[in-house]
Amino acid sequence: MFSWKDLSQYDFRIVTLFEPIQLQWMYEWKDQRSIGLLMNHYPTVSWYLKHVNTDLGSKFQHLEQTYNEIIDKSSLHSLERALIDSMEDWIIYVTDPDVYDQLSFNRWDDQELLSLADFKAKTVVDIGSGTGSQLFRLAPIVETIYAVEPIRHLRHYLKAKATSLNLTNVFIQEGLMTDIPFPNEFCDMVVSGHVFGDEPKAELAEMMRVVKKDGMIILMPGNNDIDNARHQFLVENGFNWARFFEPGPDEGYGWKRKYWMAKKEKLMSEK
Ligand SMILES: C[S@@+](CC[C@H](N)C(=O)[O-])C[C@H]1O[C@@H](n2cnc3c(N)ncnc32)[C@H](O)[C@@H]1O
Repeated sequence: MFSWKDLSQYDFRIVTLFEPIQLQWMYEWKDQRSIGLLMNHYPTVSWYLKHVNTDLGSKFQHLEQTYNEIIDKSSLHSLERALIDSMEDWIIYVTDPDVYDQLSFNRWDDQELLSLADFKAKTVVDIGSGTGSQLFRLAPIVETIYAVEPIRHLRHYLKAKATSLNLTNVFIQEGLMTDIPFPNEFCDMVVSGHVFGDEPKAELAEMMRVVKKDGMIILMPGNNDIDNARHQFLVENGFNWARFFEPGPDEGYGWKRKYWMAKKEKLMSEK
């Protein structure tokens, strides 16, 4: 829970605003018992989850059938609040992306990114663009920039913002870091912030695929300021790194790590 927005106005019905990719994340990462119990309590939401598509629908149906025990009202309410609070960022993406855009930690010093490479006249792909922290800092400098963003509501937000800023070199695509919608060696640079890490190997391989030889991959931020498995993976694969500060006071601010690497023939870990 980040406390970026008052979520008390929402109950479990809010998930009917979620897009299939978010429902997949909810199924895979959130408490399945809570979901199953709440489906039994909210028949309309249950109907939506079971019909959103065949594959996901049958998974949610299984949760509803598995977790159909009787539970007292106050325990169910606590589970519901905890589930909603744990999905705060996803709820903001589909209700009010401006809330995310205005958070203090997005106001890091532009030079932290711009000093990492010469972006002039480059073709850049920004992955997991969100509300455009990296995208809109780079767009005035680069030749062309492509935003890859899996959530439709955020793609609309990015498009509206690019239009309002009269940016004609910004193009917005649906995709994932593990499934980037461009051919091999398509761009000079891949940039991404606050996304890398769920599937490190597959994500790095896919970014390496779309970037030209001697092009760059920049993850800013790519990690919290911590020597964890993600940091070790990036360093072992040839990334340079440095610390930078995301300003407070909103929850999530603090010291972060940025990573950058020029594309070589092979991943270091494959040698
Ligand atoms: C925390 S936001 C970061 C947005 C922006 N890059 C920034 O630094 O402010 C994460 C964004 O990445 C998107 N996202 C999450 N998982 C992703 C994935 N596997 N591939 C691409 N984008 C992803 C989310 O939809 C969301 O817009």
